[in-house]
Amino acid sequence: MLDVKGLSFSIGNQPILSDVSFSVKEGEVIGLIGPNGSGKTTLFNVLSGFLNQTSGSITYKESDITNLSPYKRAHMGIGRVFQNFGIFREMTLEENVQVALEALPKNQKRELGDLKKVVKETLEIAGLQDSAKKKASSLSGGQMRLLEIARTLKSGNNLFLLDEPTAGVSPKMTNQIADMISTLKKDGKTVLIIEHDLPFIGKICDRVIVLDVGHIVLSDTPQNVKQSKELQEIYFGADPTT
Ligand SMILES: Nc1ncnc2c1ncn2[C@@H]1O[C@H](COP(=O)(O)OP(=O)(O)OP(=O)(O)O)[C@@H](O)[C@H]1O
Ligand SMILES: [Mg+2]
Repeated sequence: MLDVKGLSFSIGNQPILSDVSFSVKEGEVIGLIGPNGSGKTTLFNVLSGFLNQTSGSITYKESDITNLSPYKRAHMGIGRVFQNFGIFREMTLEENVQVALEALPKNQKRELGDLKKVVKETLEIAGLQDSAKKKASSLSGGQMRLLEIARTLKSGNNLFLLDEPTAGVSPKMTNQIADMISTLKKDGKTVLIIEHDLPFIGKICDRVIVLDVGHIVLSDTPQNVKQSKELQEIYFGADPTT
């Protein structure tokens, strides 16, 4: 579904991503981990078209999307969840979901059918159905994040890019987010998720990619990554006894 080849990105002569290559199969849930500043968010920006790579190529569903605008990529079903961005605080939760659905391309909107029903389902996914008529400003940061994710999930996308969805979220909501991602997987959707919470990653991901200073250093099952020496070295420094 997604094929990334030799992707590099530099700012001036400072390399941020270096020769990043990986493939994602349809229906996979992939965790992207790595220390602060290793280039994870930058990779999402390049994949969604907000930053232009210095070199390399991106193929999505057998189309070369390397030079397409973010808008075109979004139309093709690549969904990026921004953190607490695009929630209108003065509108009710219901209205917030409604406007996002109204803004979808015609063909995606048609597929959804009855929008009122989809609004209701979206709020249910986020566990916020009882607050449908409340203003979004009444939500906690964690609840806003849930709403933001739920809204993107219902948007008919096929590939989801989630950047630290559990940051600053209570353990209960972290579980809710994990459930939402499992639902996506059941529906055959593909998910790339940046996360610092390793137990969370272990629970929901089929595979984990580890990024360190702009390079992919590991790509393996959560179990193998957790036990790997490379991960220990990246996060805790090299073991002086070896
Ligand atoms: N607009 C920018 N101008 C200059 N440097 C930038 C810019 N955006 C990112 N960087 C640098 O690129 C590197 C990678 O940043 P990025 O935000 O992708 O890391 P990250 O892995 O998402 O980190 P975190 O875990 O803290 O979110 C960092 O060294 C950062 O300082
Ligand atoms: Mg980041």
